Amino acid sequence: MSHISRIDLTRDFKAHRDEYMKAIEAVCEETAFSGGRFADKFDEEFAPFVGTAYACGLNNGTSALHLAMLALGVGPGDEVIVPANTYIATAWGVSYTGATPVFVDCTADTWQIDPDKIEERITERTKGIIGVHLYGQPFDFARVKEVADRHGLFIVEDCAQACGAKFEGRNVGSLGELGCFSFYPGKNLYAFGEGGSVTCDKEEYFRHMTRLKNQGCDRRYYHDEIGYNMRLEGVQGAVLSVSLKYLPEWTEKRRKIGLRYHKEITNPLITMQVHPENTDPVYHLFVITVPDHEDFVQYMADADVECNMHYPVPCHLQDAYKFLGYQVGDCPNAEYMASHCVTLPLFPEMTEEEVDRVIALCNAYGKE
Ligand SMILES: Cc1ncc(COP(=O)(O)O)c(C=O)c1O
Repeated sequence: MSHISRIDLTRDFKAHRDEYMKAIEAVCEETAFSGGRFADKFDEEFAPFVGTAYACGLNNGTSALHLAMLALGVGPGDEVIVPANTYIATAWGVSYTGATPVFVDCTADTWQIDPDKIEERITERTKGIIGVHLYGQPFDFARVKEVADRHGLFIVEDCAQACGAKFEGRNVGSLGELGCFSFYPGKNLYAFGEGGSVTCDKEEYFRHMTRLKNQGCDRRYYHDEIGYNMRLEGVQGAVLSVSLKYLPEWTEKRRKIGLRYHKEITNPLITMQVHPENTDPVYHLFVITVPDHEDFVQYMADADVECNMHYPVPCHLQDAYKFLGYQVGDCPNAEYMASHCVTLPLFPEMTEEEVDRVIALCNAYGKE
C-alpha cells in the first residue's frame, strides 16, 4: 500500500507548475527580488481578500506578530495575554518587544483560548490579547471582545493557520485591531519559502509597519527609528498571487475531507475538535486526541500513514519560558492537548482512497 504523508506539497506544484514558473520568471526578468512590484501586488490582492484596507507583506509570520506588537506600542513592562495552546511564535512577538506573554488555558472542547479564563490574568500592565485561530478554527472572537472592551485592551488575531476562515460571516484577520498571517510552506496559503503579512484598517499602523520592515525608513538612507529587514521577497509575492486564486478551491477540498473525518470517524477512543455553528473553519490541521498519542502515531506509521503532533509541549511549559515560573497544572486543558494530540493527514489534493484509508485505520484503532 502506498505511503500517505501528513501533507504533500508536490501535488500542488505538479498541478500548477507552469503558472508558478511563469510568475517566478517574471520576477527574475525584472530582478524585483526584495519587496518591489510583485510583493506590493500581492498586498493589494490580499487586503481585499481578508476584508481590510491594508495588508503589509513580510518575511514571515513571526515578524508579523512582532511588528503588530510594535505598531500597538507594546514594550518593556507590558503584558499581553496569549493562549497556552498555540505554536510558540504567537508568544515570541510579545517577548521580542521586552513585554511579557501571560498564558491562558484553552477550552476543553474547541481547544481555543478560553474567554472565561482571561479576566483572572488581567493586571494593570495588560495591554491586549492575542487570540489564535488554531488549526484553522476561529476562536470565540465575540466573547474575547467582550472581555477586551471591558478592560480597554486591544485584540490581535494570529491567523497563521486560518487564512479564509470566518467568524460570524467575517473573515479572520478583519476582526481585531491587526491580523497576523504566515505563509510558511504547509500553511493553507503558502509561499515557496518564508512569508507573512499583517492586515489592518488603520493607515497609521500600516505606515508604521511599512517603515519598520524597511530598516526604519520612509525615504531611503534616512532612518527615522530603529528598524528591521522584514520585507516580503518578490518571488514569494508572485507565488502567493498565484496561490491566492486557488485558495477558495483548496479550502473547499479541505472542508470536504474535514467533514468526512468528522462524520465517518466513529471510534470512541478518538475525540475531535468542536466547531461552533457561528464559525467556518478551514481545516488547516485536523487534530484529534487519543488516550495514548505515541501509540497511535506508531500504529499509523506501521500502516505507512504519517501523523504528527501539534503541539507536544504547551507554551507555558517550554524551557524558553521557564523564567516565568509556570507549573504543571496551570493550564490543564492545554496540558491535556499536549499529551494526547495527534494530527491526521489532511491536504487539498488527498485522494478519496487516501481519505478512506485514514478513516478505516482510525476506526480500527484499538480493536485488533
Ligand atoms: C499559530 C502560529 N503563529 C505564528 C506562526 C509563525 O509563522 P512563521 O513560521 O511564518 O514565522 C505559525 C507558523 O509557524 C503559527 O502556526
